[in-house]
Amino acid sequence: MQRRPPRASGASQAIARALRGGATDEVLSDHSFDVIRSRVYALTGIVIAERKRYLLMSRLAGRLRALGLEDYNAYARRLADDAHATSEAGYLVNALTTNETYFFREPRQFEVLEQQLPKLHARVVAAGRRTLRIWSAACSTGEEPYTIAMVLHRFIASKPGAKAMVLATDVDTNVLAQAQRGRYSTERLSLVPERYRRYLQPDGDGVVVHPLVRGLVGFHQVNLMNDAFRFQEPVDVIFLRNVLIYFDAKGKSRVVRKLHEVARPGGLVFVGSSESLLREAERFKLRHDAIYEVIK
Ligand SMILES: C[S@@+](CC[C@H](N)C(=O)[O-])C[C@H]1O[C@@H](n2cnc3c(N)ncnc32)[C@H](O)[C@@H]1O
Repeated sequence: MQRRPPRASGASQAIARALRGGATDEVLSDHSFDVIRSRVYALTGIVIAERKRYLLMSRLAGRLRALGLEDYNAYARRLADDAHATSEAGYLVNALTTNETYFFREPRQFEVLEQQLPKLHARVVAAGRRTLRIWSAACSTGEEPYTIAMVLHRFIASKPGAKAMVLATDVDTNVLAQAQRGRYSTERLSLVPERYRRYLQPDGDGVVVHPLVRGLVGFHQVNLMNDAFRFQEPVDVIFLRNVLIYFDAKGKSRVVRKLHEVARPGGLVFVGSSESLLREAERFKLRHDAIYEVIK
């Protein structure tokens, strides 16, 4: 006997209607919307604007289904309830982050990194240190830190004794798990220059990152807004790309100042092409498009 799909309940029909552009009040009141977005802001610094109501609803639809909740108002009540608030935080954050990324995003920045590596490495050696340290501070699914590691590997392979590492962090535990697998679909490779393709090895219908590159990268969860940055040593280069755009002015300034504390003087900070550190002119000096030198 053929099994029929279960019929949507009245509540889930209302959610489906709202997601198709119908009235949202029935399933997500203004109050509930504010409860949910203010919790996301408190947890991560991510600002969810009024116009992002549908986005929030579609991102949380799966979580509501998993919990068997009738609508977003019930979800807001769950967040306000001490018994669930802490355990729900991780799911909420993972659902509401935006994780778009790809290999060699903004390729010109990686050309600058290639050009700057000899100088950065010479400073490591001159200071009697062993390892050049680069931090990918909102690494998403891993394409950015693996891109950095490919550039680093090609450089250290030509310099006997040179050592380098990439610390890759994000607040979202789902993307970190995906990044650690190091497996990607071939659609994500269009910007990878020919000289770096050997680091992405065919595997079934996708590619895996070469172990030599994976070995340079360590992944950890770090919340830029709320965690203290506990590094053993300051970092030489920081990639802080396409994450400041989600924060308000207060949040940006908070993150950028904390980051300045763990950066080496003379080190470099790469931001996204629509982001800027010009408001922190006494801490960072613009050197190239969206690339700043750390001043101390
Ligand atoms: C659009 S992706 C940027 C990925 C990569 N840096 C790039 O430019 O391609 C933004 C990332 O920032 C992360 N993020 C957002 N708020 C964060 C926070 N408070 N702490 C750490 N990571 C955060 C998200 O989880 C997401 O993976």
